[in-house]
Amino acid sequence: MARRRRYGSGGFRPVLTLLLLAVAGGIAVLGVLLYDYWRDLRYPSQEAIGGIVGRMTDPEFIERGRYLVAAGDCAACHTVEGGRPFAGGRGLPTPFGTIHAPNITPDQQTGIGGWSNREFVRALHKGLGSEGQFLYPAFPYTSYTKLSLEDALAIKAYLFSLDPVVQRAPPNTLEFPFDQRPLMAFWNLLFLDDQRFQPEPGREAAWNRGAYLVEALGHCGDCHTPRNLLQARSGNKFAGATIENWQAYNITPADNAGIGGWSDAEIEHYLATGIAPGHARASGPMAEVVQYSTSRLTDDDRAAIAAYLRSVPAIARGADQPRNGWGGPAADVVALRGTVPAREGAAEGARLFVGNCASCHGWTGGGVGAPAEGGYPSLYHNGNVGGDSVSNLLLVMLNGVARSYGDQQVFMPAFAELLDDVQIAALANYVLRQFGDPANATVTPEDVAELRQTPPLMSGQR
Ligand code: HEC
Ligand code: HEC
Ligand code: HEC
Repeated sequence: MARRRRYGSGGFRPVLTLLLLAVAGGIAVLGVLLYDYWRDLRYPSQEAIGGIVGRMTDPEFIERGRYLVAAGDCAACHTVEGGRPFAGGRGLPTPFGTIHAPNITPDQQTGIGGWSNREFVRALHKGLGSEGQFLYPAFPYTSYTKLSLEDALAIKAYLFSLDPVVQRAPPNTLEFPFDQRPLMAFWNLLFLDDQRFQPEPGREAAWNRGAYLVEALGHCGDCHTPRNLLQARSGNKFAGATIENWQAYNITPADNAGIGGWSDAEIEHYLATGIAPGHARASGPMAEVVQYSTSRLTDDDRAAIAAYLRSVPAIARGADQPRNGWGGPAADVVALRGTVPAREGAAEGARLFVGNCASCHGWTGGGVGAPAEGGYPSLYHNGNVGGDSVSNLLLVMLNGVARSYGDQQVFMPAFAELLDDVQIAALANYVLRQFGDPANATVTPEDVAELRQTPPLMSGQR
């Protein structure tokens, strides 16, 4: 009874109370944000930096920085196709517009030559620019925040040992309200886990090293973990995601959906060369990761990454057979001799295959000289062709493949200029019907036209 009277009468008091609570809540959140910001501007303390700064001209410390920069794959974003390393300018598309990676060579005007140690560490750990402005998480500071202070300063020591390059990145093209950097304060409050990496005492040293390489430096989750609407990584760690139209596959230890069927040696070989014979080849963004990052690590570090990847929870979604389980040799191409097929039909796909692909991948699609390293891979039992997302297959055809590791070069020509959308679609449908999941052979010329808009890779052919 008493309850009913309190809430039932008037209705004005409760509304006012709620309003006041909301205002008080808002002020509290702003207070927290302002206090955090004030504290972050003073981070890290001069004492903490002071203990390390003396080593920053030591060649060994600089060499350590060079290795960490490779492990962190900084070059991939901070270099344009064919451009000077770390001089910036590459555009990173986001759902809200394009963000350009700046010049991080030590040029005073256009690069980071004027940055203090504190400003540099603050950027990696807190996502703040030299003037205290909020940076966008297209720069993976949500991963780099886990770096140790020492490693962050080693990275700076290395970058500052490079020749300065004068080059300014083009302005960003973000839509309102996303062009308002202070909004990132709220985003950070929700999604930035502002903590350095803590080894797990119960685990082996190699596992902890792997965790550090994957989570802090390699930022593997930035591509392989699906994102939520606000572009933060979701809880389904490494379950696979789309990045610039490429499918970054599930790399959890699930048997069919992920890499549970790969041996440790196969994972390590893939990270070293981009090739896991019989399973997969890196031809898109992962080709860059291999070229600029994982192929440059030590064997021990690649083994540590594999050990850590093995231990994350397996997420088995959808797949009831591995991607490389599909397809078989083509037998229909011989029947084509001397015929003039219609432009879009199945026979046209086969004819295009013979004319453009068979010289390297074989008349039956079985490859030539594979699985040996320099060989041309089979297109059936192929992880790229059998995937659920056909975009990787289409992008390989459009872009070709250009990847190097050590002194090895891997090359497949790009067909973007040679074949039109109708031809690429017909060819893709042929390849999918013969060598992949026939249910996916529904590619339209419009799909191809859309994928032509995909930004080129730094090492790209187009
Ligand atoms: C996935 C792409 C990507 C990778 C990898 C990456 N960055 Fe960046 N970085 C960016 C983008 C984009 C910005 C600009 C963010 C903005 O304007 O808010 C940026 C900004 C920065 C800045 C601030 C520069 C300035 O002028 O404001 C520094 C310093 C920096 N990155 C260093 C690094 C280092 C060191 C690494 C490797 C450990 C690295 N970045 C790896 C994309 C990347
Ligand atoms: C820039 C985005 C990006 C980053 C960063 C990245 N990957 Fe990838 N990865 C991809 C894409 C896209 C593919 C699909 C293959 C391709 O690019 O051709 C892939 C494929 C793979 C595969 C093969 C999976 C399969 O089933 O074929 C493995 C293993 C892998 N990545 C591991 C890693 C690890 C470990 C890291 C961190 C050290 C990492 N990736 C970082 C984008 C990325
Ligand atoms: C000049 C030789 C050459 C021609 C012509 C060629 N390819 Fe390739 N292709 C290669 C090489 C080499 C690779 C392996 C790249 C690697 O190791 O990642 C490759 C890789 C691929 C892949 C990814 C394979 C994988 O194992 O993940 C696909 C799909 C593919 N080619 C399809 C085609 C199609 C379709 C055509 C015709 C339009 C074609 N290729 C024409 C040489 C060629």
